[in-house]
Amino acid sequence: MPVIPLISQEEIQQKVQELGQKITQDYQGKELDVVGVLKGCFLFMADLIRHIQLPLTCDFIRVSSYGDQKVSSGVVRFDFDVTQPITNKHVLLVEDIIDTGLTINYLLQNFQTRNPASLKVCSLLHKPENTRKKVQIDYLGFTIPNKFVIGYGLDFAGKYRNLPYVGILEEDAEP
Ligand code: IMP
Repeated sequence: MPVIPLISQEEIQQKVQELGQKITQDYQGKELDVVGVLKGCFLFMADLIRHIQLPLTCDFIRVSSYGDQKVSSGVVRFDFDVTQPITNKHVLLVEDIIDTGLTINYLLQNFQTRNPASLKVCSLLHKPENTRKKVQIDYLGFTIPNKFVIGYGLDFAGKYRNLPYVGILEEDAEP
């Protein structure tokens, strides 16, 4: 299916560098536990942590809410959890995209019960038009229109994650 570019590789790399620098400033003197939400976060997180000049650990979780559909089911299932406790750690949750907000809202509530020293959210993309649960995004790359996007870690039915840019599948583009 043809892909219409939305955010270029250069724009992404520039933004990721800015986010890394901001995070570095904000957490000066602290250690960070960067927790990525798989699978979509893996390219973004790999690039982001290379711009964070702080001692940090990385961990990953996986939740499912979409299957192969392009519409949120509203149901969040924990597939696997962090490998180390987050209690008393400065946790930064890294998401590829916040769409309805249901996933990140669930994760924030769940993580908060484990008493981290602090808990913040970093997301590459946000689709505000689709919000069902409003959440504070502490570090945000780009606000995008309500289109289904793929690339730079984001998939449709498991494919397109390897694109170095973010694009819209043509069937989802404006006529
Ligand atoms: P939310 O719970 O609706 O905020 O959705 C969050 C998750 O849905 C993301 O982590 C993605 O895995 C997936 N998702 C939402 N919108 C898109 C999209 O446009 N492209 C690819 N995946 C998406």
